[in-house]
Parts: sequence; structure tokens; C-alpha cells
Amino acid sequence: MAKTLTIAVSKGRIYKEALPLLAHAGIEPVDDPATSRKLILDTSRDEVKLVIIRTTDVPTYVQYGAADVGVTGKDVLMEHGGEGLYEPLDLGIARCRMMTAGLADAPRPRGRLRVATKYVNCARRYFAEQGQQVEVIKLYGSMELAPIVGLADCIVDLVDTGNTLKANGLVPQEHIADISSRLIVNRASMKMKHEQVRALIDHLAEAVRLRSQ
Ligand code: ATP
Ligand code: PRP
Repeated sequence: MAKTLTIAVSKGRIYKEALPLLAHAGIEPVDDPATSRKLILDTSRDEVKLVIIRTTDVPTYVQYGAADVGVTGKDVLMEHGGEGLYEPLDLGIARCRMMTAGLADAPRPRGRLRVATKYVNCARRYFAEQGQQVEVIKLYGSMELAPIVGLADCIVDLVDTGNTLKANGLVPQEHIADISSRLIVNRASMKMKHEQVRALIDHLAEAVRLRSQ
């Protein structure tokens, strides 16, 4: 009998965009997480379970082997550090950019630049690479508010259409990274469940290829 394969998927937009790719691999959830209170979803394949969790928790579940594989944003992986994980496939979904942004005509600050973000590690790394000393202020959401109310000089956040920045009088400034969702695999699962994991990677890679044609 095949071993159970647990897949952790970020809820929200990544889950929605991952569904057609998973369906190509023959994996369709039996319950809808939008209406069900279940956290572990059965799928059309008896041996495959889906856990639908906060996007920032996905690398942790996979790192510790609570899930064999996961789907999450590159932004989350960059912030987590990717320790104990393989990242074999770019799924090409939930695409956006990680950028700095600030008020359109703000004067340069006299002292250290204050940067508000939920991506504190990415922000520290990026500004260190630029040789710029900054004070990073950790926020958990609505980063766009920080420059408007004078909490920070700029933010590090995700930008897609740019509408959120524009609606708040901010402009995109420096490009830090292109972001899309990635398949990640626990290192032990890659060895112990090699055939199942390999088959999943191959099916998803084919779905990504077909989608981009
Ligand atoms: P949570 O609600 O769990 O705190 P979140 O609000 O960051 O997480 P989402 O906004 O659904 O959750 O974002 C999940 C992931 O989707 C991000 O980590 C990123 O990889 C990607 N993403 C975020 N915003 C966009 C966007 N505007 N366009 C495309 N992809 C995005
Ligand atoms: C994300 C991100 C930005 C916005 C950028 O937020 O945090 O605020 O998208 O997209 P845009 O450039 O197309 O406007 P999201 O919509 O996921 O809301 P949330 O941060 O509250 O989850």
C-alpha cells in the first residue's frame, strides 16, 4: 500500500491557484476549506491529504516533516531561510514582486532610514547588501499605512498591479525580488517517499508547462 503523502498548502490565493495544478496530478480535495472547518482535507486519492494553513507556517510544517511537501510563496521562503527544505519546482502562480515603496515626494531622512515590513529578514539582508544602515520595524499587515502616518520612511512589501500603493499615495521604489509560489519538499520525505514525491513533482511540472503554453 502507498504511504500517506501530506501536502501543506497556503490558504487564500495560493490555494485557489494551486487547485488546477494539483488536479492535473489527480489530487482534488473532497471538502471545500471555505465552508468546511476541517484542517486536514481528504482528497480524491486515499493516500494524499491536504493541510490548509497560514502561508508563513508552510515551511515550518515541511521542515519538521509534519507535511511531506508544501506550496508557499518565495517571499515566505526567503524570510524563513529555507532550512531543511528542497525547493524543486517554481509553480509560477501568485506572481508578484517584493519591493521597497514610499511616499511620492518624501525628503530623504536625516538619520537612519526606518523601514516597516513583515519581511524583517529580507529587508535587513537587502539593505545590508546595499551598504545602507536601516532600522527595521516589524509589522504584521497594512504596511502601506506606515509611511502615511510617519511610522516609517519606507516599506518592504509585495506589489502586483501597484493599485494598493497608488490608492495610498505611495510609489514603488527598489525591486528586491520576483516572487511566485514554490513546491517545497521535506528532506527525509524526498528519500523515504521518493517515488511518490518524484511522481508529484513530475505531474506538477507538466501542469506548469501546459499552463504556460
Ligand atoms: P495570511 O493571511 O496568512 O497572513 P497573507 O495575507 O500574506 O497571509 P495572501 O495575501 O493570500 O496571504 O498572500 C499569500 C502569498 O501570495 C504571499 O506570500 C505571496 O507569495 C502571494 N501574494 C501576496 N500578494 C499577492 C499579490 N497581490 N499578487 C500575487 N501574489 C501575491
Ligand atoms: C497583497 C500585498 C499588497 C497587495 C499588492 O495584499 O500585501 O498589499 O497585495 O497587490 P497590488 O499591487 O495588486 O495592489 P493582499 O491583497 O493579499 O492583502 P493582505 O496583505 O491584507 O493579505
